[in-house]
Amino acid sequence: MKEKESFDAWAKAWRVRFEEAAERALPLKDGPLAGLQEAMRYAVLDGGKRVRALFAYAAGEVTGADASHTDKAALAVEFVHAYSLVHDDLPCMDNDLLRRGKPTCHVKYGVAQAMLAGDALQPEAFKQLVSPELGAQTSVALVAELTLASGADGMCGGQMIDLQHVGQTMDIDLLRMMHAMKTGALIRSAVRMGAMCGDPRVFASVDADLTVYADRMGLAFQIVDDILDVTADTATLGKTAGKDEATCKPTYVSILGLDKARELAKRCLDEALEALERIEASGVCASGATRALAWMADYVIGRNY
Ligand code: IPE
Ligand code: IPE
Ligand code: MG
Ligand code: MG
Ligand code: MG
Repeated sequence: MKEKESFDAWAKAWRVRFEEAAERALPLKDGPLAGLQEAMRYAVLDGGKRVRALFAYAAGEVTGADASHTDKAALAVEFVHAYSLVHDDLPCMDNDLLRRGKPTCHVKYGVAQAMLAGDALQPEAFKQLVSPELGAQTSVALVAELTLASGADGMCGGQMIDLQHVGQTMDIDLLRMMHAMKTGALIRSAVRMGAMCGDPRVFASVDADLTVYADRMGLAFQIVDDILDVTADTATLGKTAGKDEATCKPTYVSILGLDKARELAKRCLDEALEALERIEASGVCASGATRALAWMADYVIGRNY
């Protein structure tokens, strides 16, 4: 119980920090761009669990990152994530009406404005990473990381596989690949980017194990999202429950069933925690520096919204 309380306090503090940084990064505008900015703010602010931001902050603790640097990684990955949700909800994709307990961006602003808000959030994300404060080398590494995670070999590619298989089944290898790409890639980048903001020598030493952790978390996150689509209700989720089955999406639940999906998520958790134990045992970071990543792993697997 004590652990849980500590996680809650930790997450609350970082979420508050993140919201303030996001508000500053997307100021209200007057004039002809007001509408676009308003839709961008609608997509990013006031809602969302901020899981990717929290992963970045947690990983930054492993490499001793300065929080003002990790803010930029957290903003960048959450901006790309928010854009991916705006586009994911469009009529031509998942055609959803509810997101984060509010009408989806295109329901509120129309398809064209929502599309442009999503489009504009992408460069806005990279703008965060192109900052002299980060130093040229870190800046380039962060841009490269997020580029790979969000493009055709990452999130966009995964979304394509998803849409191409509506109403079809798929083998477990393709299912795993789809999840790793459409959701796993951004979560993996959130962890790695947070860690990249700290000491580069520590990052180099922990990179392999940290990436195992990040991969397992990314996969587990979408497995749990698939489970919750079946087991949770719309009010709790803030998005329409039962959508995957209604629209014949191949998911871990539809292909393997609930029990097997839960088992796989648990296996991801165990493997992620083992990777953190290896990092702690290596002695390369301060003792207990992986604490927040361990909390995040429990949170991701145990979450019910
Ligand atoms: C939803 O992500 C989309 C997936 C990739 C599964 P989140 O569940 O992290 O959505 P928010 O940011 O909390 O709204
Ligand atoms: C979305 O997956 C993954 C993205 C890249 C946005 P889902 O389509 O399952 O996400 P939800 O359930 O609408 O949040
Ligand atoms: Mg989708
Ligand atoms: Mg969707
Ligand atoms: Mg879903």
